Amino acid sequence: MTDNKQFNIKGFTLWFTGLSGAGKSTLAAEIVPELRERGVRVEVLDGDEVRTNLSKGLGFSKEDRDTNIRRIGYVCRLLARNGVGAVSAAISPYRDVRDEVRRAIEADGAAFIEVYVKCPIDVLAERDVKGLYKRALAGEIKEFTGISDPYEEPLRPDVTVETDRENIATSAAKIIAEIERRGLVSTSVAAVDYSQACAAVA
Ligand code: ADX
Repeated sequence: MTDNKQFNIKGFTLWFTGLSGAGKSTLAAEIVPELRERGVRVEVLDGDEVRTNLSKGLGFSKEDRDTNIRRIGYVCRLLARNGVGAVSAAISPYRDVRDEVRRAIEADGAAFIEVYVKCPIDVLAERDVKGLYKRALAGEIKEFTGISDPYEEPLRPDVTVETDRENIATSAAKIIAEIERRGLVSTSVAAVDYSQACAAVA
């Protein structure tokens, strides 16, 4: 009998939520190589990227955002139940749909880790990497999350990172620690050959 955990093939969903520019994609990019090095197969669903293909044509009304999140959640579910570490990096501003996605993924026996990427709106407006906050504050972008549209903070996130107070390495380490704590990645084996692992459990 082979222990799946030993070979790091227990799937999970790592779900980032937070305002635009808070650091969701940056943190995903920081964590993914480390997970891969440790034998986890990983796939990232990034908000901006998803909106150019899977969710092309959707806008930012609650209905469209919910559709977007349900689609991302559905793909994460398929991946997670097949042993992949699915990483979602979308604002996902509404609590009810995030919780709906969590329930669906956990119903399959896969883990769901909600990471709240927290950063005050004034810091984000100051950084304004994409120049969107300036336009939103000027009223040029309607329904902009945090300015003219709601963001519902998670009530019980599995991990909270505060990107205005911590550096990227610190935030990434907190997330990796939670993944380790859940037994989703080996702490003792530095790297695992995934094909061998699959052959072993077949
Ligand atoms: S979500 O609400 O449906 O989860 P998603 O993460 O896909 O949002 O897309 C957010 C990105 O779209 C932002 O980072 C920003 O670049 C862009 N964007 C354009 N318009 C808006 C808007 N009205 N509100 C938030 N983000 C917007």
